[in-house]
Amino acid sequence: MTKITKAVFPVGGMGTRFLPATKSTPKEMLPIIDKPLIQYAVEEAIEAGITTLIFITSASKHSISDHFDPLPMLSEKFEKAGKHHLVKKLQTLPINITRMFVPQGEPLGLGHAVLQAKEIVGDEYFSVILADDFIKPNGHNATKQLIDAAISKQASVISVEEVPDNRVSQYGIVDIGTATSEINSILSIVEKPSLADAPSNLGVIGRYVLSPKIFELLENTQSDKGGEIQLTDALAQLLNKPNNLYAATLNGKRYDCGHKLGYLQASIDSALEDKEISDQVKEFIKNI
Ligand code: UTP
Repeated sequence: MTKITKAVFPVGGMGTRFLPATKSTPKEMLPIIDKPLIQYAVEEAIEAGITTLIFITSASKHSISDHFDPLPMLSEKFEKAGKHHLVKKLQTLPINITRMFVPQGEPLGLGHAVLQAKEIVGDEYFSVILADDFIKPNGHNATKQLIDAAISKQASVISVEEVPDNRVSQYGIVDIGTATSEINSILSIVEKPSLADAPSNLGVIGRYVLSPKIFELLENTQSDKGGEIQLTDALAQLLNKPNNLYAATLNGKRYDCGHKLGYLQASIDSALEDKEISDQVKEFIKNI
């Protein structure tokens, strides 16, 4: 593998922690200030060299495809009025980028969502981006970092981050033994262990570059007790050969926008950096 051009965006989750906002809108359409989470993720992917975007969607929620569709009538109206900055804001996707939408049918877990991309991805390594993990780049593009790591190792690479003890049981947790660099071979991986059973505090976060071998493994992965097919369980099967799966620690700051506190932290941090409103936001926070 010398390059990776396809990215899968699983956006078919139920988003129960954000109901009722997520009743008719996917969680990935929640905005940080004025841009939906999914658009940040797509921009990250395109900057990393991705040219085909594959969205795995919930059949009842169409706003993501609407968001990336052009709006020619409104664009023309703004153009005629000389409001070029608004025309630019409507251009949510460059024209040379291919986008595809695959309905998940039922929300049967992240592994099941990724499996839906099998036919479109084919026999290539591909990237998986969970847009609800919002990663502030701080000069480093998370997806690019993983793609570079996968090319250098010629293997699958997943991103990990140290998580606090009280959140270990909410993550896939990896064992990398003694870390030797930013990219380390994974020895074992387990989905949502209790703190006592966890091999470390390194939690898997929402960026992956995967070998197409994962599809066959996902097809043979049993559902868990909750009826979901877990990506972590298929990743564990990749470990039957050494140096098949690596963990990379990323440089950007991550916010878990799948839950209320993480989403608010991302919004506040972004507001404090937004030139248009940061002074007023600081003033507001000071006076609370
Ligand atoms: P989460 O574990 O956050 O689940 O999914 P969720 O359903 O979105 O949210 P809660 O837990 O009910 O609040 C992680 C990622 O996997 C996608 C989600 O959209 C999110 O990007 N996902 C999850 C799917 O695409 N399909 C699924 O069946 C499950």
